[in-house]
Amino acid sequence: MIRNIISASDLSPAELQKLFERADHYRTTRMLKKFPLRRMIGVTCFYQPSMRTRFSFESAILRLGGQYIGTEAAGMFSSAIKGESIEDSTRIMAGYGDFIVLRSENAGDAAKAAAVSTVPIINAGDGTGEHPTQAFLDLYTIEKHFGRGKEITVTFVGDLKRGRTVHSLIKLLAAMHEKLVRVREIICVAPPELQLPDEIFADAQHIGTISRVHWLSPEILGLTDIIYMTRTQREYGQVEFDPSAFTLTPERAQMLPETSIILHPLPRNDELPPAIDFDPRARYFGQAQNGLYVRMALLEMLMKK
Ligand code: NCD
Repeated sequence: MIRNIISASDLSPAELQKLFERADHYRTTRMLKKFPLRRMIGVTCFYQPSMRTRFSFESAILRLGGQYIGTEAAGMFSSAIKGESIEDSTRIMAGYGDFIVLRSENAGDAAKAAAVSTVPIINAGDGTGEHPTQAFLDLYTIEKHFGRGKEITVTFVGDLKRGRTVHSLIKLLAAMHEKLVRVREIICVAPPELQLPDEIFADAQHIGTISRVHWLSPEILGLTDIIYMTRTQREYGQVEFDPSAFTLTPERAQMLPETSIILHPLPRNDELPPAIDFDPRARYFGQAQNGLYVRMALLEMLMKK
């Protein structure tokens, strides 16, 4: 059976636990003895710009002994520019590679590709939809810091409407609640026009407390274990709002508990000033690094013979 990763809820708690164990292995083992992707070819097809996701997938493939073919700016450098559908392009790519890592412009594209593909599809971000592998590495980073037992309050800040990493991480937290993670509260801080979509809000309601608020207040900062900052996704259209209510200034960072951590999927804009990088609670570069280990573990899991 072909195993696709389209949504953050596509792995069971047991699979995610195994994934994290293997990520630990890859984090601590430099010289691999086994190469699970030997003689395999992955396709990395990216219609939108990417630095972390594409490079970490390509590095993961090479480190696991596989090879890849691929393109960035696929909208220009693939037959999409001649009007080819995502389905037709997928059928062709599936004939040349053993799995496809796909980043596309529209929510739902990864599912469309999976519907016609003869090889696994890994959703590396589908427009404003989801970005499941980012959520896996986010949760891995959270677990590395807090372990399993602690009840966590997660505060998401920024463009929660169009930020696909937020959609996937909230879905994952909801799916893993009381299984791999204990969530006390999710707080969504965004201007009204950029708030979390209703479907995702509804998905997470069984956790207990999920709320939508319109500014990053001292009270919220004081309750937060994980602050997950995001940039405004301007590529999907301009929205006018006052960014000062959603910026993690050094003054605001002081109000976060000492035991908290600061995450960001990156790239960042003004919402996360470089001054914060010197804060010991800043974990976003380590978070991006974890992407390599988690993607190695994921490719190994999906491609196991
Ligand atoms: C994110 C994405 O592409 O959704 N980047 C990433 O993969 N780490 C976040 C973003 O672009 O804002």
